[in-house]
Amino acid sequence: MANKTYYVTTPIYYVNDKPHVGHAYTTILADVLASYHRLLDIPTFFLTGTDEHGQKVQQAADKNGITAQEQCDQTVIRFQELWKRLEITNDDFIRTTEERHKVIVQEVLQDLYDRDEIYRAEYEGWYCVGCERFFTEKDLVDGNCPECDKPAEAIQETNYFFRMSKYQEWLIEYIETHPEFIQPGFRANETLGFLKTKELQDLCISRPKSRLEWGIELPFDEDFVTYVWFDALLNYITAIGYKRDDEHFSRWWPATHQLIGKDILTTHTVYWPTMLKAMGVPLPKTIFAHGWWLTGRTKMSKSLGNVVNPMEMIDRCGVDAFRYFLIAEMTLGQDASFTEEAFVRRYNSDLANDLGNLLSRTLSMLGRYCDGVFPKVGKNALEGAPEKKLWESVQQAVEEMEGSIDTMRLSQGLAAVLGAVRKVNKYFEIKQPWTLAKEGKTEEVGITLVLAAESLRVCAALLYPVMPERMGTLRTAFGLGKPELAKLNTFGVIKAGTAVGKAEALFPRVELKKEEPASP
Ligand code: ME8
Ligand code: MG
Repeated sequence: MANKTYYVTTPIYYVNDKPHVGHAYTTILADVLASYHRLLDIPTFFLTGTDEHGQKVQQAADKNGITAQEQCDQTVIRFQELWKRLEITNDDFIRTTEERHKVIVQEVLQDLYDRDEIYRAEYEGWYCVGCERFFTEKDLVDGNCPECDKPAEAIQETNYFFRMSKYQEWLIEYIETHPEFIQPGFRANETLGFLKTKELQDLCISRPKSRLEWGIELPFDEDFVTYVWFDALLNYITAIGYKRDDEHFSRWWPATHQLIGKDILTTHTVYWPTMLKAMGVPLPKTIFAHGWWLTGRTKMSKSLGNVVNPMEMIDRCGVDAFRYFLIAEMTLGQDASFTEEAFVRRYNSDLANDLGNLLSRTLSMLGRYCDGVFPKVGKNALEGAPEKKLWESVQQAVEEMEGSIDTMRLSQGLAAVLGAVRKVNKYFEIKQPWTLAKEGKTEEVGITLVLAAESLRVCAALLYPVMPERMGTLRTAFGLGKPELAKLNTFGVIKAGTAVGKAEALFPRVELKKEEPASP
């Protein structure tokens, strides 16, 4: 991997309501990527946070009978607690109501205003509160928001505008000459299709306080607050010291991966790059838009009220299994369906049967046939044909998993690792160490069990970013600490003479809850 540093971001989530599986997904994905890069010894910075201004949050506060700030302070905790529970290792957490953010947003606004990138004019158009987006009459579909299909509200008022339209040609050219900028490629085409067929409007970047007070005041007009997206997008650079700590900022910016859901593609691939261009700041290397978690065929969303409660699945199967399911089940870029049935099926087959079972078999045989101590094996351990073949398969999985990080095909990488796990199980069936033991072939038993353990060690390292807690437990049973990717190609890392840990069931099987019988 050629990158010298790795900076990964998630969207900052609205605090109008508590987090659900969709939010958990992007954050877990970022965590997994951050963790792989740390294992590869690449300096890594992982940012997440909350988007606390705007009409949506104000409305939630009104509904709950509390102030907007109280709404933020109460809800942010739910995100932070969930991230802790999900073993998220973010390096920073930014809230847009923090001073460190607000001050810089105002500096940016003032600078753009001074350079005539922002001007004042009458606004007449439509606004969707759900998406916090302005639309023209032509954009609407049957009077509804083109993004979420909810009614938009008519607005007529004086506002401030960012001269976004003048960057249209530049942006088209930039996207066309930087294929890595919007990923997957078909999303780049979506943005290009829009840029090539529609005339880009200037972006309204304010709301009069008479309509909405909850926002960052414009530094050049105290009657207005900043439009929430203009404020929110800047979090990616205010958090790492833009205009405040040049050294820190230039260490991490441009970001390597800015992860988003496809719902916010336009704001991140049109507003954000043109804002950065006007500010004279380089663009992030890649905006990566993943698909949606669906329930049935519809997007899982707070406003649709069809969200799966992650906590329930976590209580039943554990945090690591939840993380594994999300990363293994979704092909990056595509939509995926979250059902309890799919979860339980994958859990039982991949984790309980294949991986968990392999560990407990290996440990209990080491206990039974090797006195609970890792035996010493000779240099010839990998000379037998089945041994050579198995170790090659494991090395193949290392290559595939590492490759899948670069190409953002994590589900394929995980499938390759699970494939290697199954090969170890098959290897046991071929070698039958229980028979070898009966025949007194001590050396061969040792080789078989050590090779299985070494294979498991490598697989556990590859799965560690996805399942840090369980894979840590697995490695402890082999007397090992945190994985080192540098050791994945070496055989014989587990020290001979190490006492074998207890055969704890890593992933106990779970049953699918009985469906209610269908009414006749
Ligand atoms: O849009 N499937 O915040 P938000 C997959 N504050 N991912 C999902 C999802 C689903 N069903 N639902 C949500 C905002 N997500 C703005 C962002 S960034 C400068 C400002 C994830 O609370 C996905 O990452 O609506 C999506 O883009 C994000 O949550 C939207 O979160
Ligand atoms: Mg949303």
